[in-house]
Amino acid sequence: MKIVTVVGARPQFVKAAPVSRELRRAHAELLVHTGQHYDDAMSAAFFRDLEMAEPDVNLGVGSGSHGRQTGEMLRRLEPVLLEHQPDGVLVYGDTNSTLAGALAAAKVAYPGGRRPWLAHVEAGLRSFNPAMPEERNRTVADHLADLLLAPTATAMDNLAREGLADRAALVGDVMVDAFAWAAPRARERLHREAAEHPGYVLLTLHRAENVDDPTRLAGWLSALGAAVAPGARAAECAVLFPVHPRTAATLRSADLALPANVLPLDPVGYLEMVALERSARAVATDSGGVQKEAYLAGVPCLTLRGETEWTETLEGGWNRLVGPDAAAIRAALEDAEALDRARPRPEPFGDGHAARRIVAALQDLQRLAGDREVTSA
Ligand code: UD1
Ligand code: UDP
Repeated sequence: MKIVTVVGARPQFVKAAPVSRELRRAHAELLVHTGQHYDDAMSAAFFRDLEMAEPDVNLGVGSGSHGRQTGEMLRRLEPVLLEHQPDGVLVYGDTNSTLAGALAAAKVAYPGGRRPWLAHVEAGLRSFNPAMPEERNRTVADHLADLLLAPTATAMDNLAREGLADRAALVGDVMVDAFAWAAPRARERLHREAAEHPGYVLLTLHRAENVDDPTRLAGWLSALGAAVAPGARAAECAVLFPVHPRTAATLRSADLALPANVLPLDPVGYLEMVALERSARAVATDSGGVQKEAYLAGVPCLTLRGETEWTETLEGGWNRLVGPDAAAIRAALEDAEALDRARPRPEPFGDGHAARRIVAALQDLQRLAGDREVTSA
């Protein structure tokens, strides 16, 4: 079986790594990087940390408006599919790279009329917030795909509600596979600032709705700074903040100053991030992946959004939704600190063998596609 995998953004490298490793045992994979993320710290660092093969093709699309970026990916993907004529195309998650990969696969036809099938990993996630670009990307990808690889029972229910149950398979979450692989390797990789600030809160913020407007971003930062270090203890209660380039751009252009206890870091590689998550007192984030990783690490999480796709993390109080309000964040943090960390956490994201199930499901799909070709010949 020959697969083209399309990735482009930081979380997709993490998700693709375990599947790619499993796939390459018995099949041919062509890894196509759209170039959506391109800084060393946003891209190459992940390939190194995750011990992944270099991308076979980099489309070099770079940053741009949604239409330009997605359109350029689609334009550059089509000739790659026509040249390599894979049996199937594999896309991950909900970024513009996901949407472009899904559209390219859905529209291409090889000479003679054969077409690739499309499989979507992390299918069925819904925030029910139609304003999020990611919600549109994942919904379109799900409706185009021939095989929907769902991480959770909730995702399966969402797909069933949209009439997609017959194309869906519950395989578990590949981020569990990646996290389990990384955890022992991350032991030696704790950031110097973390060692110097025990009891830190780890912060990430990158969603467009939180960081593009300088007033909104400043509101989050001052609320978090004040909530974590009320009064004179500011310097002792650090918030370690690896800054996404999107967020860095707003901080720079609006010349925003950070509260004294919020310590900015460059974006860190995956192993350093796993180490930072595991040693944190609490995590505060608007990232989907980081919410889940906090849960897997058994570290309480505050989600800096009005809703989450990963509703399972809310059960048992491991994750709480908060707004940019210092008193509310302080109260949530105190609740989180009171959480009994030793109590068992259910495993709604699976057992860490999602990659194996995904490859098995792809093989089944390939067999079906082959049977259909024989029948129609
Ligand atoms: C994208 C995804 C988002 C995902 C996030 C993961 C979409 C619509 N959004 O958001 O779902 O959660 O990736 O991190 O696909 N930039 C750099 N260097 C880079 C990459 C980006 O400086 O290597 C800057 C550019 O100024 C760019 C901005 O970050 O305009 C935003 O990048 P973009 O890829 O458009 O979206 P993300 O915010 O990263
Ligand atoms: N991550 C990382 N370094 C960072 C921030 C995030 O390695 O500085 C990892 C994180 O551990 C997770 C993934 O990137 O595996 C999440 O990506 P991000 O938060 O950018 O996107 P989202 O999950 O919200 O789509």
